Amino acid sequence: MAVSGLVLLAYLVAHMLGNLKVFLGAGELNGYAAWLRTVGQPFLGYAWFLWLARLVLLAAVLVHAVAAYQLSRRDLAARPVGYRHRRRRASYATRTMRWGGVILALFVVWHILDLTTLTVNPRAEAGHPYQNIVASFSTWYGGGIYCLAMLALGLHVRHGFWSAAQTLGLNNPRRDRVLKFTANGLALLLTAGFLSVPIAVMTGVVR
Ligand code: HEM
Repeated sequence: MAVSGLVLLAYLVAHMLGNLKVFLGAGELNGYAAWLRTVGQPFLGYAWFLWLARLVLLAAVLVHAVAAYQLSRRDLAARPVGYRHRRRRASYATRTMRWGGVILALFVVWHILDLTTLTVNPRAEAGHPYQNIVASFSTWYGGGIYCLAMLALGLHVRHGFWSAAQTLGLNNPRRDRVLKFTANGLALLLTAGFLSVPIAVMTGVVR
């Protein structure tokens, strides 16, 4: 769970930074998307790097989901009888992680249909991600879905990073403050960076 989560986190940081090119204009963002398809050429063929990245991401998502399922099963098996008092079985953080994970998985499906396959995108112009992003975030549901998902992402990363540090044995009383600060900082940075795009479109700063 921890290692696949860190792979996904690294991707998210890179993706968020890449998305900020939207503020530099259509030429910059569309050029960046085109460049992503030519990385490694001529050693690699057209879009091979992109497909490699997709394979690594898919593997990380699958490992992450299977590990989450196994952890939930183990959690249930550890207390087959249930509490006598009507106390909630899972802590606030655990429940946030489970529901956050489900929301993010649904969001990624929507996101791929919206900006990769362009199936649900109102403009759907292949090779023009800038125009597709603006079209998507200009609808109330498009912008709304992204904003809600980004808040779920922030909570997920905040607790997930902290849990991963514990799983990997990185924490000790001296390092805890730094780790908590890093978890909060990363979550804030990702949420703000990703959120800035739909907000900029919805407020007309990017159009
Ligand atoms: C405002 C926020 C976001 C914007 C504007 C955005 C934009 C985009 C765009 C334009 C693409 C297509 C890139 C291309 O084909 O050249 C893309 C791909 C992708 N995005 Fe995002 N993204 C955002 C947030 C996220 C988040 C939060 C996640 C994950 C939780 C995510 C996961 C992905 C994945 C996995 C792909 C690759 C799909 C594929 O081409 O196979 N994105 N994004």
